[in-house]
Amino acid sequence: METVQYTFTEAEHAEIRKHVAKYPDRRSAVMPALWIAQEKFGWLSPEAVKLVAETLDIPYAHVYGVASFYTMYFKERVPKHLIEICTCFSCGANGGQELLDYTKAQIQADDKGHGKDGKIWARAAECLGACDTGPVCQITNRHYAHNLTREKIDSLISKLSNDEEIPYEQIPLSNPSITD
Ligand code: FES
Repeated sequence: METVQYTFTEAEHAEIRKHVAKYPDRRSAVMPALWIAQEKFGWLSPEAVKLVAETLDIPYAHVYGVASFYTMYFKERVPKHLIEICTCFSCGANGGQELLDYTKAQIQADDKGHGKDGKIWARAAECLGACDTGPVCQITNRHYAHNLTREKIDSLISKLSNDEEIPYEQIPLSNPSITD
């Protein structure tokens, strides 16, 4: 089994110091520091949370409290790519739940939403703040895909299965609320 070294590089320390310098209280840098740890280790194991706490010289409980509050921080080992489909309000009324069920079926997800090939997982998201282009999903805490359809989901799954970069998707300019 692979042994993970829970350390930050000097470049990562420098990045965290930059965040610390922005705030009067170093605890305020906990979110970017957790993000750096998650990007590096893939999820926030207790060891990664401890590393962040020690790096920032703040209590473990504070770091864990922040990590456990926000869904974008992964507290368990997860597949690499996440498709989060909004099932709230307008997305829900426009088929968000049906598309989530479809996505899970396409990746042959288990009850946690983790796909059979171990690369992709899917779960429901709360409102992603793009209600006028719903159904909407967010890809691994980054880009959004708007006006989702089954065909779009198929394309996303295909790209993610091959570890292809998902390009930033412009919100369609035909959307009246954007062009007004
Ligand atoms: S309801 Fe889906 S983004 Fe707001």
